[in-house]
Amino acid sequence: MHILFVCLGNICRSPMAESVMAALLDQAGLTDQVSLDSAATSSWEAGKPPHRGTVEELARRGVPLVETRSRPLNEADLQADYIIGMDASNMDDIQAFLAGRSQAVVAPLLTFSGQDRDIADPWYTGDFSQTYQDVLTGCQSLLVCVKARIEERED
Ligand code: 4NP
Repeated sequence: MHILFVCLGNICRSPMAESVMAALLDQAGLTDQVSLDSAATSSWEAGKPPHRGTVEELARRGVPLVETRSRPLNEADLQADYIIGMDASNMDDIQAFLAGRSQAVVAPLLTFSGQDRDIADPWYTGDFSQTYQDVLTGCQSLLVCVKARIEERED
C-alpha cells in the first residue's frame, strides 16, 4: 500500500502529513505494510526541506520528523494507492496532472473524517498548530480506511 500526500509547496502541509501518518502507522504496527511519500503541485520549493514552522510544530507535538525534500508530482506517482491533497486547489491541480491515468483513491485529507473543507495553508496563515490539528484528524481517519483495506486484502 502506497500513500502520497500532496500540497502546493511540499514544505508545510504534505511533509507534516507524512510525518504524522508515519507516527500513526508506527503506533499501529503497520510500518511494514504501508509506504509514504509527499509531493508538490508546483516546483516552487523543489529541493527544500520542510518549513521551520512544520519542523517546530512536529517537535512540539512529539512527532518524529520524516526528512523530505520538496519535489513536484511525477509519473511514478501514478502508481500510488492513495493520492491525498490538502485543499480544493490541490485537488484541481492533482486531477489535471493525473488526467485519468491513475487507479488511486484521490481525495482531500479531511474527507476521510467526513469533512468537506480545506486544510488551511500555514504558509499564508502562519497557524501551524491549526494545520497540525486538521492533519492529525485526517490522518487518524485515513488510518482506519487503510487498515480496513489491508484486512480486506488479507482475507
Ligand atoms: P504547502 O505551503 O503547500 O503547505 O507546502 C506552501 C509552501 C510554499 C509556498 C506556498 C505554499 N510558496 O508559495 O512557495
